[in-house]
Amino acid sequence: MLKLVATTIWLLLPAYTPNNFAVVFGGGAPIDLGRNFIDGRRILGNGKTIRGFIAGVIGGLIVAHIQLFTESFAGFSLFSSLEYETFFLLSFSLSFGSLFGDVVGSFIKRRCGFERGASFPLLDQLSFLFFALLFASRIEGFEKLYTTEVIVAAVILTPLLHVLTNVIAYKLGLKEVPW
Ligand code: CTP
Ligand code: MG
Repeated sequence: MLKLVATTIWLLLPAYTPNNFAVVFGGGAPIDLGRNFIDGRRILGNGKTIRGFIAGVIGGLIVAHIQLFTESFAGFSLFSSLEYETFFLLSFSLSFGSLFGDVVGSFIKRRCGFERGASFPLLDQLSFLFFALLFASRIEGFEKLYTTEVIVAAVILTPLLHVLTNVIAYKLGLKEVPW
C-alpha cells in the first residue's frame, strides 16, 4: 500500500511540479492575450501566462531528469527502465499535459463564472491530472509503469495531497487560508 502510494507520487511528480514552476516564474502576457470569449468573460484570465506555461514545462522536465539520476543512485528503476527517448517523450507529455489541463480547467472555470483564483474543488485537482495521463498514454510502454492500480491511486491521492499541502502551507504561514 505504502509502496503503491510512493510509486504513484514518484511517477506523477513530472505532472505535479509544473504548476509550482508556473507560480514562481509566471507573469507577463496572459495566454489569452487579454481577450474575452463569446460570453463576454475572459477566455482564460490573467492567472494563465505564457511565461508560466513555458517555465512550467521546462520545470517538469528538469524534475523528471533529476528523478532519472536519483533512480540510478538509489538503485530502483521506474523512469530508468525506459529508453532515454521514450523517457523524454513521457516526461514532456506529463509536463505539457499537466499545464494544458490547467488551462482547460481555467477555461471551464471562466465559463462557469468563477473569477481568477477562485477554487473549484476536484476540477482544480483533476483537470491537470486527466490531461497529463491522456497525453502520456500515447507514449509506448506507458501502461507498463502507469498500471490501472497507479491510475486509481492517482485519482484518489491527488485531491488528498492537494488538501494536505495546503494545510501544511497554512501552518507554515505561507497561505492565508488552509484550502
Ligand atoms: N501561473 C502562470 N501561468 C500559468 C499557470 C499559473 O503564470 N500557465 C501563475 C499565475 O501567477 C497564477 C498562479 O501561477 O495566479 C497560480 O496558478 P493557478 O492556481 O493555476 O491560477 P489561478 O490564479 O488560480 O487562476 P485560475 O482561477 O484560472 O485557476
Ligand atoms: Mg488557483
